[in-house]
Amino acid sequence: MPSHEETQQRIAELEHQVEELKNQLLQSQRLASVGQLSSSITHEFNNILTTVINYAKMGLRHKNDATREKSFDRILSAGQRAAKLTTGVLSYARAKGDRRDEIDLAEVVADVLILVEKDLQMNRVRLQTDILGNPVCEVNISHVQQVLMNMIVNARQAMADGGRLFLTVRVSEDGTMGEIVIRDTGAGIAADDMRKIFEPFFSTKKSDENGQGGTGLGLAFCREVIESHKGRLRVESTIGQGTTFTLKLPLAVSASGRKSA
Ligand SMILES: Nc1ncnc2c1ncn2[C@@H]1O[C@H](COP(=O)(O)OP(=O)(O)OP(=O)(O)O)[C@@H](O)[C@H]1O
Ligand SMILES: [Mg+2]
Repeated sequence: MPSHEETQQRIAELEHQVEELKNQLLQSQRLASVGQLSSSITHEFNNILTTVINYAKMGLRHKNDATREKSFDRILSAGQRAAKLTTGVLSYARAKGDRRDEIDLAEVVADVLILVEKDLQMNRVRLQTDILGNPVCEVNISHVQQVLMNMIVNARQAMADGGRLFLTVRVSEDGTMGEIVIRDTGAGIAADDMRKIFEPFFSTKKSDENGQGGTGLGLAFCREVIESHKGRLRVESTIGQGTTFTLKLPLAVSASGRKSA
């Protein structure tokens, strides 16, 4: 029989292992979600390259200063757009450990949108973003980005024939929480499924030919991340009409005195 102390030590070891495995799973889920965007991001790169090539040709063909200047301008902004995308993908793929930083939630939303905008457009989803406040919260930025990414990808997948996605950032009415609302006009969630959607491995999605979609880990991670930030997560849904997820995160202590709204 192992002694009490040995048992305690073993438990501590196992807890540590579970923690490690969770982190690894979180990282692979993270990479899988960028993977889901690979086709739209490649597409966008192609468009950028076409712009660069065409304007370079135009600049070479036309010798007048005005046309050349316009060509350089277009090439520059296409290049900047490409740089923003690669920086976005690279920083998203690289998790930042357990660090927490004070950040404006509107900035987190903007960072994620750089990566998903094209994907939404390609799937005929019209996006409306309403920044009604600038709540500063102390968060693990990579984790909150991942939560948003999971939810936006879910929303898009629920709108197979296109639709509308509304993203809102605001401060809660009582002034204590930052809120991000993600509303789609998709298929909605059946009442029976509502209780299960946050369970790990619950998914109603069949995997496609690339084996993509439907690990059922997306929302389980969202819940975990929000709980670890002492936040709250609410979902409302009507079949055939759409779904609304509301994330609430406590405002940073130093931010509550500041102009957050
Ligand atoms: N916006 C939404 N509209 C309709 N159903 C949703 C929405 N978000 C989540 N769901 C439902 O909740 C289930 C669980 O979502 P979750 O993100 O955890 O897993 P998944 O999307 O199926 O797989 P993964 O995220 O691993 O690719 C989904 O299969 C879907 O049935
Ligand atoms: Mg998902």
